[in-house]
Amino acid sequence: MAHNKKRLAVFCSGTGSNFRALFRAVRERELPAEIVLCLSNRSQCGAFDFAHEQDIPTLHLSEKQFETFEEFSLAMVAALRERGIDFVLLAGYMRKVPDAVVEAFSDRIMNIHPALLPKFGGEGMYGIHVHTAVIAAGETESGASVHLVNEEYDKGRIVMQRKVPVLPSDTPESLAARVLECEHSLYPDALEKLLAGQS
Ligand code: GRF
Repeated sequence: MAHNKKRLAVFCSGTGSNFRALFRAVRERELPAEIVLCLSNRSQCGAFDFAHEQDIPTLHLSEKQFETFEEFSLAMVAALRERGIDFVLLAGYMRKVPDAVVEAFSDRIMNIHPALLPKFGGEGMYGIHVHTAVIAAGETESGASVHLVNEEYDKGRIVMQRKVPVLPSDTPESLAARVLECEHSLYPDALEKLLAGQS
């Protein structure tokens, strides 16, 4: 029933391929949820292009628009509360979520990370750096992790993980592409689990 749908905000900074995968999954799997906001720290990004195409409201919110980080944090909490957001999904959001938001949405924020946490997580481990480090470490498998967000980078409880092989011929770019494809099925599965209250 429409009024039972959970209201989702997706935070992005870039292409938004995970955002697209989540949007498709909500529709195709008929999940009891609706993406009602795409928030970005950037005024223009691929995620916003898609949101405009699909008539999903967007919000450009950056700390640069505020005098202090605290004001920015409070504006983000207010924006989420005003829209009645139930869950926040970070999908390639390249900023740390302010503590005030993490506290206000405790256990209701998920992130996807392109490695098998707790390995290859934490500060500086983002984008291609992750895959370069995985190959340099001689790993034979990598993958993606969806986790709940807490005040420390990539340290919240893991909701779901999925593995992919690392091939001897892999470059960071070829591994990144394999992991990203895996993310596109993993994130919707983790969302389904979250909505079912099993996270
Ligand atoms: C993904 O690899 C995700 O794990 C990481 O940033 C990338 C986002 O890609 N946090 P996209 O914007 O969803 O295409």
